Amino acid sequence: MRERASVARLPEIARFVDANYPTLLSFRQGRSAAELARDFISNDDRPPGIEPEQAHSWLLRVDPDPGIAGLLQLYEGHPTPASWYLGLLVLDGGLRSQGWGARIVREVLDEAAGRGLADLRVAIDPLNIAALRFWHRLGFARIAKVVTREPGYTLLELVNDLDCVRGA
Ligand SMILES: CC(C)(COP(=O)(O)OP(=O)(O)OC[C@H]1O[C@@H](n2cnc3c(N)ncnc32)[C@H](O)[C@@H]1OP(=O)(O)O)[C@@H](O)C(=O)NCCC(=O)NCCS
Repeated sequence: MRERASVARLPEIARFVDANYPTLLSFRQGRSAAELARDFISNDDRPPGIEPEQAHSWLLRVDPDPGIAGLLQLYEGHPTPASWYLGLLVLDGGLRSQGWGARIVREVLDEAAGRGLADLRVAIDPLNIAALRFWHRLGFARIAKVVTREPGYTLLELVNDLDCVRGA
């Protein structure tokens, strides 16, 4: 279940970020848990040219747990008008490796294909081997870009062209 992140949830989001801080790797960029939580809600760090209404931050919920199960951030129309881009997907430590991540990504893939988009993209740290396996298995089979922001900090932009999702 997805719920739009709002300021009312800030303390809860900050607690979640704090608890999962070590796994946020490239997303952290030196920011504290409180800063990350605020930025997650405000979406001020969205890609250039993306309007606020194209940036979505959701809290993920998993029944029957009332707490935040994960965070999902999505940009519409980035980097091409027919793309969606996942800025962040992180699940709570206790919920990983139970299929929730795959289920959530498949939902987004179905939604993207249903809207006639060309692709869904994600940027990941290439040294996060478990994450690479996860995205590759879900059909993110093409590398669109290698981004090096500073020495030692590289991201791979992976693309799912939605062919399998559309049944092509
Ligand atoms: C990556 C992540 C969203 C996957 O969701 P999930 O529900 O754990 O994944 P599923 O149960 O659907 O699939 C399991 C696969 O996820 C990946 N995975 C599992 N734990 C992981 C972890 N701590 N970090 C990264 N990937 C992980 C592995 O590829 C695993 O497959 P394996 O069992 O063959 O190693 C989740 O593990 C997570 O939030 N990890 C921490 C944050 C992170 O590293 N994000 C990657 C950048 S997007």
